[in-house]
Amino acid sequence: MTTRTNPLAGLAGRNFLTTDDLSDAELEALLELATRFKARGHKPLLAGKILGMIFFNPSLRTRASFEAGMFQLGGHAIDLSVGQGVWKLEHRDGTVMDGDAAEHLREAVPVLARYCDLLSVRCFPSGKDWSVERADPILSGFARYSTVPVINMESSLYHPCQALADLLTIRERLKTTKRKRFVLVWCRHPRALPTAVPNSAVLAASRAGMRISIAHPPGFELDPDVMARVRANAKKSGGSVEVAHDFESAFDGADVVYAKEWGSLAHYGDDAAEKALRAQHSGWIVGAKQMRRTAGGFLMHCLPVRRNVALADDALDGPWSAVVDEAENRLHVQKALLVALAGSAGRRPR
Ligand code: CP
Repeated sequence: MTTRTNPLAGLAGRNFLTTDDLSDAELEALLELATRFKARGHKPLLAGKILGMIFFNPSLRTRASFEAGMFQLGGHAIDLSVGQGVWKLEHRDGTVMDGDAAEHLREAVPVLARYCDLLSVRCFPSGKDWSVERADPILSGFARYSTVPVINMESSLYHPCQALADLLTIRERLKTTKRKRFVLVWCRHPRALPTAVPNSAVLAASRAGMRISIAHPPGFELDPDVMARVRANAKKSGGSVEVAHDFESAFDGADVVYAKEWGSLAHYGDDAAEKALRAQHSGWIVGAKQMRRTAGGFLMHCLPVRRNVALADDALDGPWSAVVDEAENRLHVQKALLVALAGSAGRRPR
């Protein structure tokens, strides 16, 4: 007799820092569990469990969906906003802490881990030195000092919870993802936004065997290590990756348009040069005209989005827009993730 093992059992007690932390079987099982929760509901699988949510930066969807998810699963979420009622935290080792930060991660994280069953962290890059930020120092500090699972709620490099929701949204709308055309398109924005979302979006698409096209103006290349991972994943999953620099033709034949704004890593830390480069590409705004060039494709964006800056009203309000469904799916995939990391995926509630 053969016994079937649940791939989610192996996630118990682990961190979730990027989608590439998951094997194909684990990723598949997580999306299946999220789909089940969404369709049929669930029992209070996290009764008595506590999630500590540490926000170094603002959020609407991430904060609300994690808190709602913990409540729906019978648990509780503690919202800790650093610098707003919570001490400012230092993450650098060997620092003389005579500045703003009153506490170091070395104490704060293990203390929180004594109160909480899971910790989740949002920590955007500071915009100063990409060679430092690309090591994700704050998230890495949490992972190092925590004795309970750590979930990345968006760091310098990745937004993997968004990527899980993106994958679920794509799977719901396409019968198969294999060889479908996924277009990540750069959009204009008044600020140099981080690259975590585009990184995670293409990483997720690269796991699904999609034909990925990344369209951006020259100078807005994604991190080379991330691109190497995307290419390796695509090769393994039967997909492909190309980079293009023409805005209008990027939409031709697209099944999925993933619109996203991000800053130039080539000018990271040099605000004036980065802004001057970005200002040259004010035509990169997605509207109905562009969506009509797709192969009946649908439009994704992680939100928040500035109307008529990155996406025109007629794009966001058109029949192709999946942005609200995409945001809803944050709730479902995160509930599956929380249950799996807490080791409750296979258990019956009391
Ligand atoms: N997409 C997303 O993470 O939204 P928030 O920044 O509002 O959490």
